[in-house]
Amino acid sequence: MLYANITGWGKCVPPAILTNEDLATFLDTSDEWISTRTGIKERRISHVGTAALASLAAERALAAAGMDAAELDLVILGTACPDTLIPNAGSAVQDSIGAVNAAVFDLNAACTGFVYGLSVGTAMIRSGAMKKVLVIGADRIPYFLDYSIRDVSVLFGDGAGAVILEASEQECGLLAEKLGCDGDARDILTARDAGTARERFGGIDGYFDVNFEGQEIFKRAVRGMGQAITEVLEKTGLQGEDIDLMVPHQANLRIIDTLAKRLRMPPEKVVVNIEKYGNTSAATVPIALCEALDEGRIKPGDTLLTAAFGAGLTWGAALIKWGDRVTPIATSDKELPASDLTALQIMEPWIKGCQAAAAAKAAK
Ligand SMILES: CC(C)(COP(=O)(O)OP(=O)(O)OC[C@H]1O[C@@H](n2cnc3c(N)ncnc32)[C@H](O)[C@@H]1OP(=O)(O)O)[C@@H](O)C(=O)NCCC(=O)NCCS
Repeated sequence: MLYANITGWGKCVPPAILTNEDLATFLDTSDEWISTRTGIKERRISHVGTAALASLAAERALAAAGMDAAELDLVILGTACPDTLIPNAGSAVQDSIGAVNAAVFDLNAACTGFVYGLSVGTAMIRSGAMKKVLVIGADRIPYFLDYSIRDVSVLFGDGAGAVILEASEQECGLLAEKLGCDGDARDILTARDAGTARERFGGIDGYFDVNFEGQEIFKRAVRGMGQAITEVLEKTGLQGEDIDLMVPHQANLRIIDTLAKRLRMPPEKVVVNIEKYGNTSAATVPIALCEALDEGRIKPGDTLLTAAFGAGLTWGAALIKWGDRVTPIATSDKELPASDLTALQIMEPWIKGCQAAAAAKAAK
């Protein structure tokens, strides 16, 4: 029987920090509101594209696995924010890291993209079709947001995380998952015209029409992830107390707390880093996984539970049994290109553009 062991892990968060106080310089909001309603204190804004973030996370994961990129059979890039739609962003990652022998595709399940990717990569290995797979979650949701609307624009940040999967005969890696999608609710979280639905000519230059119904998303997130977790636990015959660590999607601290409470998991068994990065979409789970490993919170043979939800509305949960190694074989010395830009400087054209678009819409 084949399994897909996680042998490498890496993250990349860009350096520019956007604090709640920064947001309050142009939005009618406050650190107090954002912290108490979401748990977020700050997030990162990238000066480079999605593929660059994904590539650096991948380089770090390859180093941790002690693997050369040319050994990879497959690269799966979970993203809803490709730098280009044609060709896919994964091909830029392949080119950048030198994964010359790999098949490559992007997988868009929004914030659930990494969990979906882990499931697909694991299935490819367990079927015998592939031996070494790179799974990345990387997103730049802040690029799409409407900075004239205060509820949605405080939630997201940029980042990337990656893992290496390798065929193994030892029972480890992703052992059970449940994935789903509530397509009937696809309109409650959408950048409606960020695709071929967009009027090619005559729209408001650079503006994306964002629809976001926070309370409904919140309810459905708890329901979707809760259902997925229940099914995964049923499949494996485990209960909350059998889980050593939960590594959940970081969208709202209140959502994480609700799930943890249902599973009767104490705070020390739940990874939370939302205060530093906000919701980095497909990158939250692999970034949280990397930080848990760096902090020594994962031991050989531990049982991990992850769950995520996102636009679609996609949702899923997975049970992972960690392998023998919890330290990296090597580290990469690669870095992002240096930048002195502050987050507000990077965002200035977006903020001005959104404010102008809101004024133009109001004047109609
Ligand atoms: C967005 C979210 C934080 C809003 O929290 P909430 O407790 O539901 O807040 P509400 O939407 O009820 O708004 C309460 C009040 O705060 C105001 N408000 C909204 N955003 C605000 C902000 N950034 N700053 C200050 N006030 C804000 C509202 O206008 C409202 O004011 P009113 O009562 O005068 O009308 C919450 O619904 C959420 O996290 N939803 C899930 C979204 C998510 O994670 N999406 C990503 C999917 S991967």
